[in-house]
This record gives sequence, C-alpha cells and structure tokens, in this order.
Amino acid sequence: MKRNVYIIGLLLFLFAFSCKNKPTQTDGTSSDAKDLFVLFEENPNQKTFFSDKKGVIGQNGMVASAHPEASKVGVEIMKMGGNAIDAAVATHFALAVVFPFAGNLGGGGFAVIRDKNGKAYTLDFREKAPLKANRDMYLDAKGDVIQGLSLLGHLASGVPGAVDGMVEIHKKFGKLSWEKVLQPAIDLAENGVVLTEREALGLNNNKQTFKKINGENTPYFMNPDNRDWIKGDWLVQKDLGKTLRSIQQKGRNGFYEGEVANLLVKEMKKGGGIISHEDLKKYHSAWREPISADYKHYKIITMPPSSSGGVALVQLLRSVEQYPLRKWGFNSDSTVQVMIEAERRVYADRAKWLGDMDYVKVPMKELMSRDYLKKRWSDFNFAKATDSKVIDGGAVPGYESNETTHYSVVDKEGNAVSITTTLNGGYGSKVVVSGGGFLMNNEMDDFSIKAGVPNMFGLIGNKANEIQPEKRMLSSMTPTIVEKDGKFFMAIGTPGGSTIITSVYQTILNVIEHGMTMQQAVNALKFHHQWLPDRTVYEPNAFTEKTLNALKSRGYIIDAQKGTLGRMDCIMLRPDGTLEGASDPRADNTSVGY
Ligand code: GLY
Repeated sequence: MKRNVYIIGLLLFLFAFSCKNKPTQTDGTSSDAKDLFVLFEENPNQKTFFSDKKGVIGQNGMVASAHPEASKVGVEIMKMGGNAIDAAVATHFALAVVFPFAGNLGGGGFAVIRDKNGKAYTLDFREKAPLKANRDMYLDAKGDVIQGLSLLGHLASGVPGAVDGMVEIHKKFGKLSWEKVLQPAIDLAENGVVLTEREALGLNNNKQTFKKINGENTPYFMNPDNRDWIKGDWLVQKDLGKTLRSIQQKGRNGFYEGEVANLLVKEMKKGGGIISHEDLKKYHSAWREPISADYKHYKIITMPPSSSGGVALVQLLRSVEQYPLRKWGFNSDSTVQVMIEAERRVYADRAKWLGDMDYVKVPMKELMSRDYLKKRWSDFNFAKATDSKVIDGGAVPGYESNETTHYSVVDKEGNAVSITTTLNGGYGSKVVVSGGGFLMNNEMDDFSIKAGVPNMFGLIGNKANEIQPEKRMLSSMTPTIVEKDGKFFMAIGTPGGSTIITSVYQTILNVIEHGMTMQQAVNALKFHHQWLPDRTVYEPNAFTEKTLNALKSRGYIIDAQKGTLGRMDCIMLRPDGTLEGASDPRADNTSVGY
C-alpha cells in the first residue's frame, strides 16, 4: 500500500513537472516539444514593459508604421485589391507627407520582401556619395573634422534612393497601378494632414534651424499664422504635392530628371552642395542576395551590406544560441550579460569589416559562421566584463536617435514587406528643396568621415566605410523577416541609429526565447551596448536592482537612459492564422489591420 502511494506520488510529480515545462502557445493550446513558442511570464519584481498597449489583430492584412494616417493608407490600398508591396509603396509616400521627420523622398533605405511563395528579395535603395565626393571632404587643411559639415546643410546629402527604390519594388511586384498607389500621398499633401502633438513639437523645435539653412523667409514647415504649431493644426504641402504628381506621372523620371531634378540641383548649387544632374540620372537601387540564416528552427531573412544590420543581427543571435536564455529569464543578469558580450564583439566587427560590398570585400559568410563566433567568444568570462579596449580601443560621446522610420506590411495572400528608410537625422540635413517641398538627407555622416572618429551615433568606422564617389555609406538599418517552419512568422524593424540592430535582436529573442506576443516584445524595455563607448544604456526600469548589482559587480558600466530605445513596427502571424500588428507605444506608431 505504502509502495503504491509512493508510485502514485512519483507519477503525479512527473506529470506536474512535464506540464510545467511544456511550451504553451499564445492561444493557450499546448504545442509540440520542438516549438519554442511559450507564453511569457512576467517577473513580479521587474517592470518589464514600457506600456501595456495591446496588439492589433487582423484577418486579411496589416500595416504597422510610424503614423496612423500612413498605416490607414496602406490598408486602404489592400482593400482596393493591392498587395503588400502596393501597400508598402503607398505607405512610404504617405510617410513622406505626414511624417517629414523621417519619411522621405530625399532619403533612402532597405526593403526585405518575402513573397507569398516564400521567395525572398532585398532591395538596397541606400543613398550614394555624389560623384564629386572625396574621402577628405569634411576635413580642414589640418586634417581635422569640420564639425557639423556632414550633418547640416547642402553638403551633408547623399544622392537620394527612395523614389527609385519604390519604383523598383512596385515594378517587380505591384498589382495596382502606380497612379493609384501614389494618389493617397498626393491627397494628404494637397489637402493637408492634422499634426499630432509630437510632430507639432518636432517642427517647432527645428524652426530656427530650418530658417538658418533655408533662409529667414522660408515657407517650409512654418505655421502660416506665424505662430508655433499645435496639435490639431493642418499641415498643407502644395509643393510636395506637385513633386508627388510629377513622380505619379513620370515614375522615376519624374524625380531624377526634368523639373524636380532641376529644382534639386539648383538647391544644391545655392547652398554649396555637390549633387548634380549626372548623379541623379546615374542613381539606381540594387537588388541583393538576401541574408538567409538559421537560428534554431527559425530562418532570419535580412539585409546584406550596405547595411551592417543583417550581418550583425545574425552574429548576435548565433552568439547567444548556446545559452539557455529562456531558463535564465528575460533581462536576468546572465541573459543580459551574454547579450552585452555578444553586442560588444559584433559592433567591433562592424567597425572593422563592414562597408558597401560594391566597393569593399566583406567576409559575410565568415563573420556569420558559428566557428568564427565561437572563436570570438573564447575570451568571455562570466566572472568579469570583457574590456572593449582589449577587443579594440577608443572612447566616444553619447548616441541616441530615433530619426529613421520602419514599416511592415503583410497581405492576405502571405506577401510580407519589411522596410526601413531614413533621412538620417530628424528632418535630415534640414535642407528643403525650394519649389519641390521635400527634405534632403544628411546621410553622408554615416560614412567614416575620418578613420576612428565617431559619427552622430558614436559609431566608429575605418577604411571599409570611407567616402568614395558613388559608394553607399554603411547603415545599421535592419529590416527583417523571420520564418518559422518554412512559413512567414514575423516582419520586424525599427529606427534608432546604432541601436536599431540591438532593438531588433532583443525583439526577436523576446518572442522566440521568452514567449512574448509581438506587442509585448515591442513594449518590452530594452538596453544597448555597441562596443564603444564601453557602457550599457538601458531604458528606465529595464533591470531589477538584483540584475544591476550583479552586472556592476562583474565590472559592467551601466547607465539608465533618459530617453527610450526603439520605435518598432512589427507584424506576427499568430498560431490561429490571424496577424498581430505591434506598433511601438513610445511614439505615434500605429498598426492598422482589416
Ligand atoms: N542613418 C542611420 C543608419 O542608416 O543606420
């Protein structure tokens, strides 16, 4: 009898143990053993999330972007019969109108597309250095950096790639006519858009700089009543409407040739810029072989150089693959420690190896290989933080930026698009093309303007990223699509300069390892390390006192960040076949589904 009680007890214990460890899917059903998709359990001692914003659920399609109007435009295009690519193009042009902070015609970016048949594509529509650019163009006679020259004003701009990029993806995949996908942006420019509080503030904060760069009497982004903007004001952009009409009627030639090109070149000449008609004519975006790399039983489809984002993301994920992050828990000291150490090593590689592959040889395969990463890990010691100086040296000022923008789109057929695009800084170089109504980028600062000197994100570069005519400057943008068991799973991306890569990395791990929903993973508090400066920044409350103390005792320098990290716009396919749109609660970002 006593023996039977023992056996029953043992069986009950084993049953309870197996239930406890069985992964559970978000819909509450248990999943098979190889499925890592588990429900996230919050640590009661830790503020895990920035907010408790809920994801948006859609049956047929989803657009997640930085602005509600732009997301609405994308969904309307899908309702008209357009696919995810049509919707992405319409969203891009709408963002150029409603979100001049980062949405753009005068910038560039990267597109990752997975079509409904599972074939992946990436388009590099990053800006290029003008033909007249040269390695030392931002240095004075003594070889010192002329402060601000690569950031503000006409000389800071690369040749814009965004319009060509949109034309290319529409030509290859679009279902609706070009005229139709352009129309919503034209309507928003000509009829006006209602400013959110954040946008009103952004325009007010930059008013003096707009005047300084564009002339005291510039009409652009000035309130017609000669006062500061407030939430609810209408922003009407007639010149931008005309430029969009030109693009609508003539496609790429409506921007890179003819009247708009004349205006752009005239503007450059006026302010000492060097972009010429020849630069515009010669600009073409490039289809590139996507990075397609496994992480556990997921496939990471992401951007090769000229963005460093894809290589770095795969390196980061594979560096921590060996560790039981789920068991250790979200933002526990061990989890954070190995993630920081991976970041330290990967950003050091970025500085050394990464640049435009059309100009330099980037050993992509080697950098992402597990053998290489294992070697990079050989000096890691749990007892003590690795010193970045041992990996390489230097000290640089702070970094923080959310001045890029990302949008994700998925349609009912299963086409998925993940695009990150930027002017670089907020409102780019602050140059508005007179008569054209659009802002120019200050992307030249993403080059290594002098070896070893940090750019606006504190990122250091070397020869691989030095300026050459027609070369693309290295980016951190990381538009990514994740497949699970051969099917679309997530479209992910964010702005954030150098922090883009780490935010995408953490968001993916939040879902895959910690079992968060897409929105929880976006809401989750984040941290960042980039090799140099040798310190970790974190969003307030991201770490418990216990985690902080443990990390500090091992020699980590850790600073609470005043601002926030990331402005994610992501979409996930849920186990029940619906889509979860997850837009960041840290700004105006909004998902719209149908
Ligand atoms: N301009 C920011 C980046 O491309 O990473």
